[in-house]
Amino acid sequence: MRLDLPRWFDLHTHFRQGSGTAHYIADHLAMGCAGVLAMPNTRPPVSRISGPTTEQAWSIESYRAQLLNAGADAFEQLIVPLYLTHDTDADMITRGVSSGLLRAAKYYPPHGTTNSEHGVPMTEWIGSDVLRAMEDLGVILCIHGEQHGLRGPDYFDRNQTAESLFYTETMPRLVEKHPTLKIVCEHITTASAATFVRSAFDHVAATITPQHLMFTIGHLVQGLRYHLYCLPLVKFDADRSELREAVLSARQSKFFAGTDSAPHTDKLTECACAAGCYTGGCAPQLYASAFEQAGADLSTATGQDAFSRFLCTNGPAFYGFPASEKRFALRREPSHPLPFSVEGKEVVPLPHGLGFDLDWSITIDD
Ligand code: NCD
Ligand code: ZN
Repeated sequence: MRLDLPRWFDLHTHFRQGSGTAHYIADHLAMGCAGVLAMPNTRPPVSRISGPTTEQAWSIESYRAQLLNAGADAFEQLIVPLYLTHDTDADMITRGVSSGLLRAAKYYPPHGTTNSEHGVPMTEWIGSDVLRAMEDLGVILCIHGEQHGLRGPDYFDRNQTAESLFYTETMPRLVEKHPTLKIVCEHITTASAATFVRSAFDHVAATITPQHLMFTIGHLVQGLRYHLYCLPLVKFDADRSELREAVLSARQSKFFAGTDSAPHTDKLTECACAAGCYTGGCAPQLYASAFEQAGADLSTATGQDAFSRFLCTNGPAFYGFPASEKRFALRREPSHPLPFSVEGKEVVPLPHGLGFDLDWSITIDD
């Protein structure tokens, strides 16, 4: 079987900084990716609009220049959101929009995930001049939707997780105060989040990663397969079913690809594990398998329509840029993404880390 598709967009990825960046970008281009939203949780964070990089911050301008220089000039779109920190003010939003550099801003729950220590609690943003300015000027708010600062039993339990709490308690307050704010709920993992997004206004959408469509917490815990450790954590079967139903629902326009591909050169530390799965080079193949596992028949027009909406067209439509006119293809033929070295350390792609081969391969005809 061969699927011919428009080139796709990854609206949530991590390209980091330093010598690995060119490799990560090349992996994205090699998988037929036409454009990306590159997350700002770099070291230091991307928390200014313009000007040179300092010890405290990249600017959107300086980080974009770095990425373009490392190969990202081959993308049709390169969005870098502003990391919302204590330094962000409404004037920065206004200036960012007039400069053309600011299209989105990212909320990180403080200490909730990799490099999120500069985040400011959502309760402080709700009703703020910053979110009002974003609402007025059409800047998209990308949200890492997990309640922060919880104790273990509240963080992850059978009936409640940091994410389900965030979507049942915090998000309703956010959309009530900012009813016209465009929002992308990033890497959603729970039935609570999927339900929230489906019942919210059309200007509230979500990205979903391949790993959250494919795996559950059981896959991670059985053998402690730490390559699958990312945040938010993979969840329960009932959650995965809701995500699958969301992406397969007829003519859906709210759910789109955001791989959250997150390379780590020190995945295992002395007493912990870094959160993030690397899916550069293999995300469309994983998404295709995930859709098939969810019951889509990719040989039919209906199956292909659902897949193409999710991977190639819903994201651009939501962000307000055109879908790609270039094409790429997925062939049903096994492929084996391999670990590679960055600064003498290994980055391990998810399928290799979990010991499985991909069912699909990529062809790019120029
Ligand atoms: C991401 C990373 O490594 O930057 N990690 C992850 O587990 N998803 C950060 C994030 O998006 O949460
Ligand atoms: Zn991420």
